[in-house]
Amino acid sequence: MIAMPTYERLRARRGVKWSKYGPDVLAAWVADMDFDPPAAITEEMARFIERADLGYNLGLAKELPAAYSGWQERHHGWRPDEERIRPFTGTLQALETALWYRTKPGDGVVVFTPIYYPFLDAITDSGRRIVDVPLDPDGWRIDADLLAAAVNDTTSMMLFCQPHNPVGRVFDDDEIASVAAVAEHHDLLVVTDEIWGDLTLTTPHRPLATMDERLRGRLVTLGSPSKTFTLAGLRCAVAHIDDDRLGTTLATMPGHLLGASSTTSIAGALIAWTECDEWPAELRLELRARYDQLAARLRAELPEVTMTAPEATYFGWLDFRTTGLGDDPAKRLLDEAKVALSSGLPFGEQGTGFARINFATSAEILDDVIDRIVTLVRSTP
Ligand SMILES: Cc1ncc(COP(=O)(O)O)c(C=O)c1O
Repeated sequence: MIAMPTYERLRARRGVKWSKYGPDVLAAWVADMDFDPPAAITEEMARFIERADLGYNLGLAKELPAAYSGWQERHHGWRPDEERIRPFTGTLQALETALWYRTKPGDGVVVFTPIYYPFLDAITDSGRRIVDVPLDPDGWRIDADLLAAAVNDTTSMMLFCQPHNPVGRVFDDDEIASVAAVAEHHDLLVVTDEIWGDLTLTTPHRPLATMDERLRGRLVTLGSPSKTFTLAGLRCAVAHIDDDRLGTTLATMPGHLLGASSTTSIAGALIAWTECDEWPAELRLELRARYDQLAARLRAELPEVTMTAPEATYFGWLDFRTTGLGDDPAKRLLDEAKVALSSGLPFGEQGTGFARINFATSAEILDDVIDRIVTLVRSTP
């Protein structure tokens, strides 16, 4: 059973989503759901506290590969090789590890924009070069010609996001074939961030590891319980490293250099991936209802604010360009309507005039969020 959040409960939390902007602002921005995690997970956390069981625990991490592999097989038809799975403290830690240890400063790294902007920061912060391949705004598809033209022998890696944050696409066979052809031709490492894989709305997840033979041996797949179960604060993720060059480099690194996930974070992931098989289906029903609510209200009350229906995630990538809210509608909405969406600007050039809304909340709270958006847009010439 998914418990519906109340304002009282959300405002009492210490997390960034509801505390950053103060009590008069409604939060529909950062990628945390307002729903509690499954009770099986919070009860397991409580048992650790009850036992004051916070000392070293060296055994639990060994159970992660089997738990992740089993989950992927049951939910997505992919059986990852347990020997190739290693824990990380977060998806971005794994992504940046691959970036730093498998590419050189100055190398080109492909991204499909608009994109979850820490990908862009990871590339520039490491002295690598963004190779921007804009998605076609008509449906946010990968343009195979643009991709082929953008990549050359100075490109060594691709950062993929399947399903895609922020546009909610689950890329299809044709699109992945164009990716695989370029990756093979230019011998690219492909890091595929599949943290959103369980949260599909209309299209089943397609793990890249199951899709195109040409990707074999050059893939790193990232997974985490943080989005599906709202556990981002615990800090546990995994990488399935099918790329032997990165696998060998990691195997020769000092054992403690990359840190380790906490015991409670691993305990949470283990419960998630072994005892919560019913959760994603329940959640998907809830998220689909919320998407329908958002889409229906926009159609009826704000037809000038549009979005391509997401196939996955709990985001609407909202196009405000024909409203009077300017290049950064999220800023106007925050300052004037007291509702926090994510600004489109950091997601890349195609984010200008866009904002990302997180609709993973109760119907009542979503209505309040939409009311504030409607009021501001309607009153802005
Ligand atoms: C695509 C994507 N990757 C990574 C992350 C962050 O994951 P982590 O907290 O495990 O680093 C997010 C969070 O929203 C995300 O959307």
